[in-house]
Amino acid sequence: SARRDLAGRRVVVTAGGTREPLDPVRFLGNRSSGKQGVAIAEAARARGAHVTLVAANLEVASPGGCDLREVSTALELQAAVTEAAAGADLVVMAAAVADYRPAAVSESKIKKQPGDDGLTLELVRNPDILAGLGHAPHDGTLLVGFAAETEADDDRLLALGAGKLEAKGADLLVVNRVGWTEGFARDDNRVVIIGNEGVLARAVGSKMSVAHEILDVVAPRLRELRAP
Ligand code: C5P
Repeated sequence: SARRDLAGRRVVVTAGGTREPLDPVRFLGNRSSGKQGVAIAEAARARGAHVTLVAANLEVASPGGCDLREVSTALELQAAVTEAAAGADLVVMAAAVADYRPAAVSESKIKKQPGDDGLTLELVRNPDILAGLGHAPHDGTLLVGFAAETEADDDRLLALGAGKLEAKGADLLVVNRVGWTEGFARDDNRVVIIGNEGVLARAVGSKMSVAHEILDVVAPRLRELRAP
């Protein structure tokens, strides 16, 4: 399409999944491929925005024409997105961020101990990056979060989303159901976009078409917030 409704806008998108190192060769990670976030970055670029993509361990090629910031851990993602978000018109937090990281990173490879029958890992909480942005002053910046839930029941899925929107201080939340066969690494997606007013839109289709439908909800709100 020839929509240029994000011309003059500065957009920040996080994509992928963080990895939290245990030792020089191992990490705790998740199954996020980065496809949905990359599609949002590409769609925003196509609609005229200047896009900063904070990319965490993408399994897909990063799009051209974006300012790329590669990160791996949640703390690195926090530093990159916090810097990029200052003065941005829109921040979309599509990355899957680890809630916990190992309390200590071993300098050398963790070895089996003779005779042991298990290993206990101690984890500490990572900061909630979106909540950090949402609860700090961010005048003129629209904040969009994602919520990947394994909850099958639609009403309960939406209730979880509404709670999360409130808790994180985000303006919009894109809720999708994920599981062993849904969501991650696939080319298609099914989402519900919610705001403080409730359900704003539902989108089903390729991750690129879902990206454009999210931006269709976002664009008029950016105009309300401030002129480009
Ligand atoms: O709480 P939950 O992980 O379901 O929230 C998902 C949303 O919050 C996503 O937008 C994700 O990028 C963001 N998030 C974050 N920092 C975390 C965990 C999630 O910014 N530590």
